[in-house]
Amino acid sequence: MPVEFHTIEIEAVADPWQVDAFACDDLHIGVSGEESGLAVCFAYGSVIADEAELLRIATLPAYRSRGLGHEILSRFLRQAATRGASVVFLEVELDNTKARRLYERMGFATTYVRNNYYGPGRHAAMMRRELKFPASQGGIS
Ligand SMILES: CC(C)(COP(=O)(O)OP(=O)(O)OC[C@H]1O[C@@H](n2cnc3c(N)ncnc32)[C@H](O)[C@@H]1OP(=O)(O)O)[C@@H](O)C(=O)NCCC(=O)NCCS
Repeated sequence: MPVEFHTIEIEAVADPWQVDAFACDDLHIGVSGEESGLAVCFAYGSVIADEAELLRIATLPAYRSRGLGHEILSRFLRQAATRGASVVFLEVELDNTKARRLYERMGFATTYVRNNYYGPGRHAAMMRRELKFPASQGGIS
């Protein structure tokens, strides 16, 4: 999993994590999506007590705008709920409209803005959503 995620990160984001930053332990969840045997997207985060945090999500540039981001985030949320999370937090740069739109479509709302969090003029939006899945989507509430 860490190598797969790191390989996607190198192509997908400007500030990739080191491979050993992806922990494989009971506190973390990692999900990836493949096309023709190639890992093309992933979501990674933590679950501690009843709170989950989405730490990274990325789709390879050539595979974007096909619904993979939505799909991988849905799978992450479902796994987080299965592990006992009732709320999910994340942090995203305010200017990252692609990611913010995806999160808003998936029910996240901005709770707070940290000004200049990533550097001068680069603000962070803190977002959250509760995890309540209706019976028609697997019955996790
Ligand atoms: C954010 C990110 C993960 C989204 O991944 P994605 O796979 O492109 O996500 P989706 O395909 O589900 O949605 C992206 C867009 O495609 C559109 N889309 C989805 N399926 C589509 C289809 N079949 N045809 C056309 N458009 C489609 C969505 O409506 C959405 O449009 P919008 O941006 O105008 O709202 C991706 O842009 C990425 O890897 N960014 C770099 C890493 C990053 O910024 N991560 C977040 C940091 S917090």
